[in-house]
Amino acid sequence: MKEIRNIILIGFMGAGKTIVGKSLASVLAKPFIDTDKMVEESVGVTIQTIFETLGEERFRELESEVVENMAGIKGAVIATGGGIVKDSANIAFLKKNGFVVYLFAGADVLYQRILEESGRPLADRMKDQTDLEMMLAERDPLYRKAADLLVDTTDKTVKTIENEIFEAIGY
Ligand code: S3P
Repeated sequence: MKEIRNIILIGFMGAGKTIVGKSLASVLAKPFIDTDKMVEESVGVTIQTIFETLGEERFRELESEVVENMAGIKGAVIATGGGIVKDSANIAFLKKNGFVVYLFAGADVLYQRILEESGRPLADRMKDQTDLEMMLAERDPLYRKAADLLVDTTDKTVKTIENEIFEAIGY
């Protein structure tokens, strides 16, 4: 892998993009960027508040603006929001700007993980695992299509996931 390429992590909520991204960035001594944090910084409020006051559509616009503004970023590890692949322009941009890794997990694993964390407006609205399964069924093909590498995170430690990524990028 060329040294300046970004590593871009995609996947459903609870896939581990942030934790794996932070760890990768630390081992590689590269900057860590989180598109959700960048959206929050662009408007000065949390994702939760953006969804409540401006709505999901506005959030998606802000998210796409963040993706476009990443044009000049090189050599970073970038964790993306789970819905980033809903916009095909985002996918095209991500593929052009880095090595895209899909952190995969099955619905039951993801459901358990997101139950343990809060602050995700779309997860908070889910009534049960079936809601997650429906959303995952829609998005999984998009993640797969966008990805240069798929890593199944089920029952794996961050270190193991990281090593699979390192092997793929030739680190
Ligand atoms: C979303 C996932 C969230 C965040 C927003 C919407 C989604 O990011 O972007 O709440 O549509 O799946 P994480 O995947 O980091 O939780």
